Amino acid sequence: MRTHVVDHPLVAHKLTHLRDEKTDSPTFRRLADELVTLLAYEATRDVRVAAYDIVTPVSPTTGVSLANPKPLVVPILRAGLGMLDGMMRLLPTAEVGFLGMIRNEETLQASTYAERLPEDLRGRQCYVLDPMLATGGTLAAAIKFLTDRGADHITAICLLAAPEGCARLEKELEGLDVPVTIVTAAMDERLNDKGYIVPGLGDAGDRLYGVVG
Ligand code: URA
Repeated sequence: MRTHVVDHPLVAHKLTHLRDEKTDSPTFRRLADELVTLLAYEATRDVRVAAYDIVTPVSPTTGVSLANPKPLVVPILRAGLGMLDGMMRLLPTAEVGFLGMIRNEETLQASTYAERLPEDLRGRQCYVLDPMLATGGTLAAAIKFLTDRGADHITAICLLAAPEGCARLEKELEGLDVPVTIVTAAMDERLNDKGYIVPGLGDAGDRLYGVVG
């Protein structure tokens, strides 16, 4: 597993305002959207392309175009939805599959409650959108779900990550013969006893969409 922390002043600027408890939901949604587009630029460095012949007004030439099958973008519901538009802005021809996962706040175990994904993901590059890599349970389950269906290249885009989550992910994915890359805006200090990232930004789903009981 490879972890890439994107070191860029604009990323740090947007992340600081996302973290701020004074930032309201509309501003949080806009900043998350913009931040994802910046992270997506780094995350798509290995996106597969194929040679593509064109004719410019001056001469024929060969460039590249996104290869087939097109990449699959997989937001993890609910909070990953807040990252979808920012990702699709950069990869408008990608396909989108949905994975609903919820964390039991007592056991911190992740379980799947919804999925809408192609059955056969052989040869597919997948971009998983999950804002908070906290305990790593949700992301590990999502990655296993995708690789069980044949995905052969996984990149997860996370606004924030915690060292404990990265360590668990590394352990759970040991022996997996598929390259996995984590792209994040920051590696924070630690998790607190409720499994929240510190200093973090709080509950990403609640900050995007409000508190639902
Ligand atoms: N999920 C969140 O939304 N925030 C955290 O800090 C950890 C998990």
